[in-house]
Amino acid sequence: MAVGRELLDLVVERIGQKGPLTFAEFMSLALYHHEYGYYMRDRVNVGRDGDYYTAPAVHPVFGALLAEQISEMWRLAGRPPSWQITECGAGPGWLAGDILEALERHHPDCFAATRYEVVEINPALRAFGERHLRERFGPRVRWNPAPGVRAVEGCVLANELLDALPFHLVRGEPGGRLSELYVGWDGCRLVEVPGPPSTPRLEEYFAVQGVRLAPGRRAEVSLAALDWVAEVARMLVRGYVLILDYGLSAAELYQPDRVGGSLRCFRNHRLHTDPYAAVGEQDITAH
Ligand SMILES: C[S@@+](CC[C@H](N)C(=O)[O-])C[C@H]1O[C@@H](n2cnc3c(N)ncnc32)[C@H](O)[C@@H]1O
Repeated sequence: MAVGRELLDLVVERIGQKGPLTFAEFMSLALYHHEYGYYMRDRVNVGRDGDYYTAPAVHPVFGALLAEQISEMWRLAGRPPSWQITECGAGPGWLAGDILEALERHHPDCFAATRYEVVEINPALRAFGERHLRERFGPRVRWNPAPGVRAVEGCVLANELLDALPFHLVRGEPGGRLSELYVGWDGCRLVEVPGPPSTPRLEEYFAVQGVRLAPGRRAEVSLAALDWVAEVARMLVRGYVLILDYGLSAAELYQPDRVGGSLRCFRNHRLHTDPYAAVGEQDITAH
């Protein structure tokens, strides 16, 4: 049976057991189920043979520019003799390789102080990165198999990680109310089922930004991204956080003409907006 079918059966079984899932729960299964999740499979999803590009998959100049920024941070931190870069969601480790290469060539003093920790939840990508980075840079690079961040004195770095974390789907209702869109099963297909918010954090999220969604307007809320940032803040002993991702300001994101939200899916370099097609075989993301 194809992976998509296996995963869909599993999603339907979960819905049968506990009722409609939050979109974040659905997305956790679709992207991160340990066996069938899109990001947990034994394949590199990024680059020409994958489904989408990220900057490190295009050219090493991206890593070289970040190396400039990181060496400046190291200097501003007082040139500590021990400096750790922790890269979260490192994929196959291309960015790690490019940064270390550029530091070694252009900033050997910073390179000498640097230890690079890679955090990646996909075991196959971890093994791939470990092989080629260990060969080139030896014990300077180490792997943290757990998804969390360990105490850091240096720089925490994440490129296109936060957009890949599970988010909730919500919709504005008359009277300024908010509903959450859950994922249900109508006997033939996955369908969206509106209901009350699963957590007060969703309403708080908009209240903090002073945003009220117009009736019918959809939006995505990544509580997981907020939790990730809070965890990094806790773990950062001293240093910097460098998060690179796409996104829009609240003013742009919640413009009246953007009623459909910003959810996007990528498969074979094709962009579409149906997260319920090809479950487990496509990337799901949002701004
Ligand atoms: C969109 S890819 C970006 C990969 C890489 N940073 C790049 O720029 O090409 C997101 C990566 O984050 C990983 N990931 C997702 N959630 C994670 C988590 N909680 N901890 C560590 N890695 C995670 C995924 O397995 C995937 O490899």
